[in-house]
This record gives sequence, structure tokens and C-alpha cells, in this order.
Amino acid sequence: MRRTVIIGTGSYAPDNIISNDDIAKLVDTSDEWISSRTGIKERRISSKDTTTDMAYEAAKAAIKNADINPEDIDLIICATITPDYFMPSAACMVQGRLKVDGAAAFDLNAACTGFVYALVTASQFIETGMYNKALVIGVDAISKILDWEDRSTCVLFGDGAGAVVLSASEAGDNKGIITSILSSDGSKHSILQCEALPISNPYVVPAAQSMQDMGFNKKSSVIRMEGQEVFKYAVRNVSALIKEAILRADLRAEDISCIISHQANSRIIEAVAKNCNIPSSKFFMNLDRYGNTSSASIGIALDEASRAGSLSKGDKVILVGFGGGMTSGAVVLDWS
Ligand code: COA
Repeated sequence: MRRTVIIGTGSYAPDNIISNDDIAKLVDTSDEWISSRTGIKERRISSKDTTTDMAYEAAKAAIKNADINPEDIDLIICATITPDYFMPSAACMVQGRLKVDGAAAFDLNAACTGFVYALVTASQFIETGMYNKALVIGVDAISKILDWEDRSTCVLFGDGAGAVVLSASEAGDNKGIITSILSSDGSKHSILQCEALPISNPYVVPAAQSMQDMGFNKKSSVIRMEGQEVFKYAVRNVSALIKEAILRADLRAEDISCIISHQANSRIIEAVAKNCNIPSSKFFMNLDRYGNTSSASIGIALDEASRAGSLSKGDKVILVGFGGGMTSGAVVLDWS
């Protein structure tokens, strides 16, 4: 059977660095509170880069790293919850800029698990033989949907994009994705959410002059979160997923060289490491510099781990995510 191999990684983050002290000028918080509760020291907040800009830059870097021509790509999947348009999709915007004629392109929303969901989705097309080369992007300009007056959420997030190029493994080659798991629990949707536009048309309210008249409350399109519930969900589900993924891959915990988890909170990662009996040193972390970049975080971390030489050929690597939905997912890879 064909397997899916990651042949290139890339990432991009805006150059505008916002420290915890900078955020403390906006809301009643402190570097001490944010660092000790989350591990985050700074994040990138876009002052000009759009979602499409960031996705395009990460994609370009991944294509260069894969050493292929953009025209070789036949599928683009972009995971995002903050596209620039309801339509066209961010994936189509990137396809247009890359001039990848004819490739299938669509967006996918699995919140902070988006990168894992997109990777697994693309791998199904590759494994069936429908496509040979896929570009997977996780991107969020999450700063657009933050309530910058809510200290319990605005301190946690940052903007950015991560991307990978996927290809089919050579015949008989055991590299690439060994196994994957996707999961969701919509009954917990309200613990982490951001409302979209409400129903509004001439049959619901009298024709209105402005969004305000239509009762559209700008504040509703921001992230609302029950922090402790999300924390508990993350620790429980990510621990269970890692254990299940290792079993399905027919491996033991000690065979795993590196775990690239969604970068939300160092305390979540440390609790998961303890539950799984895996040293926390095996969990790659860069959330101190980026905060939680939502759909982008695993892609950015994977690119940094790869470029830092933290991944060697033959390493067994786990990518694992969790996020709004609630969603969660994991992939076990033989790194090539
Ligand atoms: N600065 C200072 N104080 C803050 C604060 C901030 N940025 N945010 C909240 N507080 C206050 C609260 O108002 C509360 O004060 P009170 O005790 O007077 O009511 C106190 O700190 C404790 O709040 P609490 O929510 O219990 O803190 P916590 O220890 O649970 O930490 C999170 C809060 C958000 C860091 C933690 O719950 C978390 O990381 N949850 C997961 C969130 C996540 O990862 N979301 C994205 C998933 S993809």
C-alpha cells in the first residue's frame, strides 16, 4: 500500500513581536501570570499580513524545502478558522498566487486540530492514488477574532502559518504516516467557540441600514472559552490519543523520538507527558515564542523541529492536536 511521506516543511509568522509586557499595557495582566500559567513569553501579531499572505509564505517555503515545482502539486488543503473571505477559500487564494493550475483546493475547519485533520485528509487522497503531491497548510490570523479586552483569552494566542508538502512513498518503503486517529465531541462545543454571522434577512428583521441595526454584535465574533474545561479536555484527550496511536502503530512509548503537540500551554504538555510516561524533553515546544497559533501551531513546530535538526531519518514522530469542536487527532510518522 502507498504511504504518505512529508517531503518538505515551511512556516511563516509576522515580524511584529508582542511581549507579555506589551499585552499588560492593554489588559490587567502580567508577564509573571502569563508565563507561569501558560509558558508563553511572546507572540506574533499581524499588523499587515493577511491569512492568505501568511499561508502563501509558508507554502512557498515548504515547496522550496521539498525541492519540487509548484506545478507538481495536485491538491491543496488549507486548515483555518480565520480565512480572508467566506469565499473563495484560503486554499484557492494560495493556489492562484502559486499558479498551481488545476489543483483541487479547499479549506477545512477543525480549529486548533486543523493541521492534523488536513494532513490526514490529504493522506487519504495520496494513499488511494487519486493524487501524488499535496500541499497542506495550517494558518490563522487569530488576532482578528480575539476580544482584546478579555485578559483570559487575548494573552494566549498569536498569528502564523505552517505548511508541508506530501508525496507518495516509494514502493516497499515503510517511511511516512504509519497510522492516524481523528476524533470529535460536539457536545462540548460551547467550551471554546467563536460565533459566525447571525441569521439576518428581510424576513427576520426589517430591512436594516447597518450591521448595528441588524443587531449584529461585533463582540460575538470573538473567541469565548471556559479555560479550565478546555485544559481538562486537552490533557485527557491528548494523553488517550497518544497512547492509542502508539498501540495502533505497534510501537512502545520508548520507541517515540519526538512528539509535536499543539502548542497551547506548557502545563498541558507537561501533564500529558506525565500521563503517557514519556519524558517531557521529547515534546518539542516553541509556544514561548509564538503562543497558540491555532491551526498553524503544529506546522510551525514541525518546521522548526526539522530545521533545528531535532528529527532524524527513521525517527518515530507523533503529531497531536486538540481544539474547538471539540476536536482532537494524532498521526504517527516514520520520519524520512
Ligand atoms: N492575567 C491575570 N489574571 C488572569 C488572567 C490574566 N491574563 N486571566 C485570568 N485571570 C484571573 C482570573 O480572572 C481568575 O481570577 P479570580 O480568581 O479572581 O476569579 C484567576 O486568574 C484564575 O483564573 P483561572 O481561569 O482559574 O486560571 P487558570 O489557572 O485555569 O488558567 C488558563 C487559565 C486559560 C491559562 C488555563 O485554564 C488554560 O490554559 N486553559 C486551556 C486554554 C487553551 O489552551 N485554549 C486553547 C485551546 S486550543
